[in-house]
Amino acid sequence: MAEKSFKYVIVGGGVAAGYAAREFGKQGFNPGELAIISKEAVAPYERPALSKAYLFPEGTARLPGFHVCVGSGGERLAPEWYKEKGIELILGTEIVKADLAAKTLTSAAGEIFKYQILIIATGSTVIKLSDFGVQGADAKNIFYLREIDDADKLVEAIKAKKNGKAVVVGGGYIGLELSAALRINNIDVSMVYPEPWCMPRLFTADIAAFYEGYYAIKGINIIKGTVAVGFTADSNGEVKEVKLKDGRVLEADIVVVGVGGRPLTTLFKGQVAEEKGGIKTDTFFRTSVPDVYAIGDVATFPLKLYNEIRRVEHVDHARKSAEQAVQAIKSSEEGKTVEEYDYLPYFYSRAFDLSWQFYGDNVGDTVLFGDNDPKSPKPKFGSYWIKDRKVVGAFLEGGSPDENKAIAKVARVQPSIQNLDQLTKEGLSFAAKI
Ligand code: FDA
Ligand code: NAD
Repeated sequence: MAEKSFKYVIVGGGVAAGYAAREFGKQGFNPGELAIISKEAVAPYERPALSKAYLFPEGTARLPGFHVCVGSGGERLAPEWYKEKGIELILGTEIVKADLAAKTLTSAAGEIFKYQILIIATGSTVIKLSDFGVQGADAKNIFYLREIDDADKLVEAIKAKKNGKAVVVGGGYIGLELSAALRINNIDVSMVYPEPWCMPRLFTADIAAFYEGYYAIKGINIIKGTVAVGFTADSNGEVKEVKLKDGRVLEADIVVVGVGGRPLTTLFKGQVAEEKGGIKTDTFFRTSVPDVYAIGDVATFPLKLYNEIRRVEHVDHARKSAEQAVQAIKSSEEGKTVEEYDYLPYFYSRAFDLSWQFYGDNVGDTVLFGDNDPKSPKPKFGSYWIKDRKVVGAFLEGGSPDENKAIAKVARVQPSIQNLDQLTKEGLSFAAKI
């Protein structure tokens, strides 16, 4: 079987891989030294588009429009860019075996790739309902969303089931973004999740109440405190009903499931140190194995600001960890080092006309400020999180670019406060002063 050898290999061809390639381009390398091996058939793209404009009936996003690095306002790296740079894009190729001691990777087709330096950028996969043995979960038209092929299948189903009914299982990022996208396509949507409010890992009850109220106005039926326990299908094997634990039965032509992600570390199990479900790295994204780095969703790294190690499943960290790792690799070749990774967590989402940003840490007490009436023509509200009398996290719905910058600064600076009532009263103007 064919054997190929590279100085640098990135396994995985998602967001982190794309930003790593751009950083190699900036730092300099020789043609033929770098390869990206990806299971997907397309060059790295901005994954967040898949749950947003990719699904819209108008203003639809399609490749090559959203290849990296347009999501952060950078140059769009179409496949030709990789060719010009002499980067080998090895697409549609799944790595099924990694031998970190021998420095080789083996593909499903049996090709062998040798490397001197490996960057693991395999991202996450979806947790499936069949993982918890939910009956009938393999029926047709039950969808998960991670990769572009998944999105294409969903787009086909939306066309085929025009004005039909959808049940969205899960109240996290996928649940909220996909319910909105389906509704915009004129599908009748019910959302089901077990928690007392949506996005419980981040939202307070007050924040969630706004989004649940807004979604209800848009005609989305929200069912909380229960889970899907089974599906029935028609004679074609297509899903028809969703059975809930509380005994209710919902009709469905389409089911979308978003019950969380799982980092793809399986290839490296037993060969590299892991922590908190990811591959443990240092501040330069070096793993416990020399010459092996891990970036993006798979990395559990030191979050300097909180003196803790964490894994982050969001695009901003995928981009920045990629840049940090490549800068560290190139500097070490010259016997130099780079500064420590000093990441400020940043998450965002967009759905309907809404758009929120969150910076920092969601721990401690919270205050809510602003207009959070879902019926308002232009709602704008936010929250601060306060720990040890310091503001450590900030959330803002409907902020302008300057206002979002201001809340980011608050989360970075962590200003002290004396009085929570005063902070509530000042609201966004508190951030503007920092
Ligand atoms: P990513 O998943 O991007 O890439 C991993 C790549 O590795 C894939 O191409 C995969 O096929 C490949 N791969 C895996 N195993 C392989 C193997 N064995 N062999 C070869 N290739 C392999 N975040 C955010 O902050 N804001 C947002 O709005 C969104 N929106 C969003 C929407 C959707 C639909 C998803 C699924 C995710 C988001 N995210 C997000 C999260 C964000 O996209 C995510 O954190 C980054 O894509 C992580 O980048 P990585 O490069 O680590 O993984
Ligand atoms: P998530 O962790 O955000 O949400 C999972 C949700 O699943 C939970 O909130 C819960 O409501 C629900 N749940 C758990 N078990 C359930 C069950 N048995 N039945 C019904 N509901 C159940 O994960 P996700 O929404 O699936 O997103 C997957 C990945 O994609 C994550 O890494 C996420 O960060 C990423 N993503 C991010 C964005 C963004 O940042 N804007 C957008 C889309 C996806």
